[in-house]
Amino acid sequence: MATGFGFTLNATDGAARTGVIHTPRGEIRTPAFMPVGTAGTVKAMLPESVRATGADILLGNTYHLMLRPTAERVAALGGLHKFMNWDRPILTDSGGFQVMSLGPLRKLTEEGVRFSSHIDGSKHMLTPERSMEIQRLLGSDIVMCFDECPALPATEAEVAKSMRLSMRWAQRSRDAFGDRPGHALFGIMQGGVTRDLREESAAALKSIGFDGYAVGGLAVGEGQEAMFSVLDYAPCFLPQDKPRYLMGVGKPDDIVGAVERGIDMMDCVLPSRSGRTGQAWTRRGSVNLKNARHKDDPRPLDEACTCPACRGYSRAYLHHVVRADEIIGSMLLTWHNLHYYQELMQGLRDAIAGGRLAVFVAEFHAQRAEGDI
Ligand code: GUN
Ligand code: ZN
Repeated sequence: MATGFGFTLNATDGAARTGVIHTPRGEIRTPAFMPVGTAGTVKAMLPESVRATGADILLGNTYHLMLRPTAERVAALGGLHKFMNWDRPILTDSGGFQVMSLGPLRKLTEEGVRFSSHIDGSKHMLTPERSMEIQRLLGSDIVMCFDECPALPATEAEVAKSMRLSMRWAQRSRDAFGDRPGHALFGIMQGGVTRDLREESAAALKSIGFDGYAVGGLAVGEGQEAMFSVLDYAPCFLPQDKPRYLMGVGKPDDIVGAVERGIDMMDCVLPSRSGRTGQAWTRRGSVNLKNARHKDDPRPLDEACTCPACRGYSRAYLHHVVRADEIIGSMLLTWHNLHYYQELMQGLRDAIAGGRLAVFVAEFHAQRAEGDI
């Protein structure tokens, strides 16, 4: 197990938890939302701006960085933190999930995944061992096991076969990772929406032993109801004293539901990606700034929000720059969305610490039900 890395659980409220993950690069307050910086940047944001929204940790991607600029180049330039000018913790995904989305460009074997680059068609191989090496070269603080997430629709037999492969890869990831003080390795639970498979996967991971445990294979099209029904039991299969990370989730209401069910960490491209298409997330749900109803509106996006987009600009201005494809439109809306997400996480942390999560969640849903002003 890694030293210099640890998790302190400070309070619980029902199944929900709040605490702190300790790393040599700083603390991560949980429940935590991790903005996605796939290719060494949270698009449209300076790292100091990402920090100003309240983020304690970013996510980076093995798959994208191994192809461009390559892990070896990043390592030669002093590692990903220095390269992208972010000195706080970075979690890197292992590449398996991103390769999956390549479809016919990939070939899966027991050894790993062979694939063609989406950039130039060049041939590459990812294995648990190579993924661990790339994540070490990048200097990742939280390394993810190399796994496979089956594309839906899949039969239960296919999901079981894939999960068992991921568990063999989890053991190989653990062996290849070795002992790296201050760096953590997280296992990834698979098993689709089948309770027995989730339990089997959790047992396999626990017997290998990890610094944290992710719930993978969700938010892949099964719908919120199915996802929540898995989260009603899956977190209980994992150790109480280790962080639990729900991968690739989600919309604000997904996040609230996941935290209520015992999840400590999440990541999603949604706040940053939708910011670049003119979609904002507020207390009152989502707002499309492209809509003509904003074009003469002098009010801010959210009068209660303290982000730069809401303090300095009108809906009319945001509408204009989004419609005109001006870069500042992406910058302002990404900032607002990340600020809103981080404020939501702070609200959840405070509510859990104060034993008033149910009241907080009821108010969250009531405000959204009112709709945009
Ligand atoms: N991101 C979202 N879901 C997953 C998953 O199941 N595995 C990995 N590695 N990354 C993910
Ligand atoms: Zn704002």
